[in-house]
Formats: sequence, structure tokens, C-alpha cells
Amino acid sequence: MIQLRNVSLGYGATTILRNLDLQIGRGEFIGIIGLSGAGKSTLLSSIIGNVKVSKGEYRVIDRHLNRISKKELKDLRGRIGFIFQGYNLVNRLNALHNIMSGMLKKISLHRSLIKLYSDQELSRAHEYMKVVGIEAVALQRCDALSGGQRQRVAIARALAQEPEILLADEPVAALDPISAGQVMEVLKRINKQYGVTVIANLHHLDFARDYCSRIMGIADGQIVFDDVPEHLNETAFSKIYKTAVSAKEYEFPEQQAVKESYYDMKDAVPAMEMEQEMAASDAA
Ligand SMILES: Nc1ncnc2c1ncn2[C@@H]1O[C@H](COP(=O)(O)OP(=O)(O)O)[C@@H](O)[C@H]1O
Ligand SMILES: [Mg+2]
Repeated sequence: MIQLRNVSLGYGATTILRNLDLQIGRGEFIGIIGLSGAGKSTLLSSIIGNVKVSKGEYRVIDRHLNRISKKELKDLRGRIGFIFQGYNLVNRLNALHNIMSGMLKKISLHRSLIKLYSDQELSRAHEYMKVVGIEAVALQRCDALSGGQRQRVAIARALAQEPEILLADEPVAALDPISAGQVMEVLKRINKQYGVTVIANLHHLDFARDYCSRIMGIADGQIVFDDVPEHLNETAFSKIYKTAVSAKEYEFPEQQAVKESYYDMKDAVPAMEMEQEMAASDAA
């Protein structure tokens, strides 16, 4: 799906990541971790051709980024979904119309402007809303939704694009613990149900450990760890975070608190499951 051979990349004359050798297969769920400024966002952006490749072979799906025309790059980007910390939704439109905009390349602009969708398009949108658990708020304006709901609308919109790869840059960093957990669950569901390759930059180590099939750690412009979560031991940890302290000590108090409250509540209140949340709002 994605293959890098001895790739260096950066901005202008500045190299940010160097000598990357990397293979990502279909259906993987990858968590990228590392200190702030390590180059996580740069790596994600490079997958959609937004960063200059100065050396090596960079292959994404069936294209070589080294030699790609503008038209081919546009087409490639259409096959890759991208979600951000800031959602990037049209706030005055409702959730449904935002999701429909993900299908824009298949629906004419004219039809989307007059909001005329076919039954088949609507039923697809409905399916995506169900997958991310926002059915109950489909007709609400996005600025009336919570952060977690907005992020799930953004994910549904990316899904409407029928992407082969879904990139998520710190998708839960701005969310409360419960919403963050729900968004991670949704990403995992999409990964399993549709076989979409998911690559997410994650601030919370525990989310990476619990949801990802593979973790990549970036430090000093290189990938210093690339393995299953179970192998993320103290040595790997100190390479990634360049510190001698243990994984446990490293966590900032608020991060620890956020993590604990999420896991406590998750165990204690199974009703936090999105289906139940939806059922409740359906009944209301
Ligand atoms: N558009 C850009 N132009 C120039 N330098 C950038 C740009 N974006 C990021 N950088 C630099 O690249 C390095 C890696 O940044 P980034 O990929 O955002 O790290 P992370 O996502 O891990 O916090 C930083 O030194 C940052 O200042
Ligand atoms: Mg970043």
C-alpha cells in the first residue's frame, strides 16, 4: 500500500526525515508516536504528496510520488481520507451535508448545491453515520455538535470518499477522554469493517497501544521503533522520547488523569457505548 525506500523529505532545503525504509500493508492500523516536532505530521502529509521528497523511492498505492503528474496526484488524494484535530467541517451545514461533501467528486457540484441526493447516496451516508454513531444528530448544524461528534462527522465524511487509506493527525488530542475513546473505537471499526488502512498520529501512548496493530516511533528525523505494541519496552520508549525515565513516569499528570478517567469510565459505564448513546437520543 505504501512503500518507502531510503526516502528523505522536508521543506525547501531543510530535511526533516531521513533515510526512511518503510512498508505499510493493506488493512494495517498504525499509530505514530514521538515528541512534538519529531516529524509525525510531516510523515502523514508526505503520503498525500504535500512534502518534498529529496531522496529515495516513495510509492503510495499504485503511484510513485517521485514522478507523479498534477492530475495523478489529485486522483491519488481522492483515494486517501485525511482527518485533523480541528475537524475542518462546514459548521453552518448539518452533519448529513458535510458527509455528502465527501462524495462530491462523484456527485456533481450542481446537485450538491441544491442538496439533491439519490436514494443510493443517502443510504450510503446513512450507513456511514451508523458506523460512526451520529445518526441521531444527522440534521443538526455542525456548530451545535460536541467535539467528539464533530470528529465522527469528519470521519464519516472521509469514509464517504471510499478511501483506501485514512490518515488522522492527532484525531483525539482535543477531545475529552470519553469522546477520544469513542473516536478511537470508530477508527478501529472502520479499519476492520472496510479494511481501510489507518495511520494516526497519537499523543496518548495508551491509545496507540490499545488500538493499533503496529506502532512507529519517530525521533531525530528517523523511525526508531517499528513493531507491534507488545514490543514497546523501556529501551524503545527511551529511544523515542529520548529520556531515561520509564513509560509510567513519563506521563504528565494530566495525561495520566485523562487516561485513567477514560479507562475507569469505560469499564464502569458500558452504557457509554455509542449504540446506547444513539438509542437514547433516538428515544428522546
Ligand atoms: N510547512 C513547514 N515548513 C517548514 N518547516 C516545517 C513545516 N511544517 C513543519 N515544519 C518543521 O518540521 C519539523 C517537524 O514538524 P511536524 O512534522 O509538525 O512534527 P510533529 O507533528 O511530530 O509535531 C519541525 O521542526 C517543524 O518546525
Ligand atoms: Mg503534528
